[in-house]
Amino acid sequence: MSDTPAPTPAPLLCAALAADLDAADLRSEPLRSLWGEEADDALARGMREPILRAIRGDDGVLATLGRLLVLGMPQPRSAVDTALPRLGVDGLVALGLATADDETVTPIALLRPQSFVDAEGVGEWWIASDLDEVALDGALPPDHVLGVGGASRTLAEIVVPIEVDRALDLGTGCGIQALLVARRAGTVVATDISARALAYAEMNALLNGVGNIEFRLGSMFEPVVGEAFDLIVSNPPFVITPRGDDVPEYEYRDGGLVGDALVELFVRTAPTYLTAGGIAQLLGNWESRDGVTGLARLEAWVPAELDLWVIEREQLSPLAYAELWIRDGGTTPRDRAFTPLLTAWLDDFAARGVTSIGFGYVLLRRGGGMPLRRTERLVQHVSGVGQALGTGLHGHDLLAEGVPATLLTAPDVTEARHLLPGNDDPSVIELRQGGGFARTVNVDPALAAFVGASDGELTVGQIAQALADLFDVPLPELWAELEPRIRSLVLDGFLVPAE
Ligand SMILES: C[S@@+](CC[C@H](N)C(=O)[O-])C[C@H]1O[C@@H](n2cnc3c(N)ncnc32)[C@H](O)[C@@H]1O
Repeated sequence: MSDTPAPTPAPLLCAALAADLDAADLRSEPLRSLWGEEADDALARGMREPILRAIRGDDGVLATLGRLLVLGMPQPRSAVDTALPRLGVDGLVALGLATADDETVTPIALLRPQSFVDAEGVGEWWIASDLDEVALDGALPPDHVLGVGGASRTLAEIVVPIEVDRALDLGTGCGIQALLVARRAGTVVATDISARALAYAEMNALLNGVGNIEFRLGSMFEPVVGEAFDLIVSNPPFVITPRGDDVPEYEYRDGGLVGDALVELFVRTAPTYLTAGGIAQLLGNWESRDGVTGLARLEAWVPAELDLWVIEREQLSPLAYAELWIRDGGTTPRDRAFTPLLTAWLDDFAARGVTSIGFGYVLLRRGGGMPLRRTERLVQHVSGVGQALGTGLHGHDLLAEGVPATLLTAPDVTEARHLLPGNDDPSVIELRQGGGFARTVNVDPALAAFVGASDGELTVGQIAQALADLFDVPLPELWAELEPRIRSLVLDGFLVPAE
């Protein structure tokens, strides 16, 4: 249990604060225009000085709230009272977001606008979370509640955009995933082991007028025992951390288990909490140990009847991993604490024979048919991953019935032909996806012609017959060659069924 004070999500005060923030136009674009793009980008890299220079001497409402809530810096009480006319300084203090004396208001939380885009359009929320390293000017306390970070954005981007009845956000933190999922769900249960995190998440739901989220305290699946969900999302505390008295345990990133046991526990347990057809998605780390790859270990944890799709985005050596997470906690090689921490991390990895650590996305589905089991490494730039995963799952389900009768080449697919100088016939033909997983596949002339002719009008059978005539091969022979490759193009979203 943490001693750090928690915010108080009082509905009337949250409504007054939201009205004040709205009137002040505390949103991403107005702030960016106020202090300029370069200063705004610099804040994302941990520098607040460029913003302070840009708004020096400006004691207007937006500049005051920007310094107070976005940067987490004390402001004169009179200026804050003017900037928050409905809530007032006393209301801000009662919400647990600041302390105040006669002269000065001192923030104890950040409150930042956070824009997002989903299938329903562009939107923006106000997200309250603990003061970050820049505002604290030092290392984070172990019970720190994170704001929206890179991993939060990654998970938000990979969630399959489906409408669901019941969803679960496990380890909700400031509540960002729950807010996003709530746009497409009847109800969302948001859980966390941290009461402070839940208080922030509840406050953020109130500030943004989102009413279909239930908040529950507890570890892992304990708060939802006996329940089932159509969608489970989690950015869990997956960071592998050596256990020992001198290694800080950050609640926001460390689940307290050894190695990658938290990810193992999650993927072994989650299926019990899925409805038929339900999907669970999480980010995670997994260890490759003594010649057994992390992907192979992960696959072995998931019951064989479940669909499993794992995309490994990154692999780090034990040294690179240790350095990354020691620095993330605010300790650098110049600090005396660095070397003992590095030793603890490297000893811990060595004790389990860890040779590398993978990071990536995991999707589980209680599919019901022939299971999809796919583990792969994708290191290229990807976009619209949630949509691409949804297309792949849909393709897998359709292929259970056979290759669809009519196919259409996806609109982002282009073809590149590589010819040896002076030669008219290509030696390599590539199909490339412009979006999604941005895959490139090599195809032979028959498959390239098949894809080229897949216009949603001609049936697969008609195209195959025309190609058999063109290449002068018996249709069964051509089809035996083409069919597995067409299936793989459907699964990867190069070819989509014509409606
Ligand atoms: C990396 S943060 C993710 C926060 C948020 N969901 C996001 O995407 O930004 C992980 C969260 O899991 C919570 N957590 C840690 N251990 C947990 C456990 N055993 N059970 C449930 N939640 C836990 C932490 O308090 C933290 O809020």
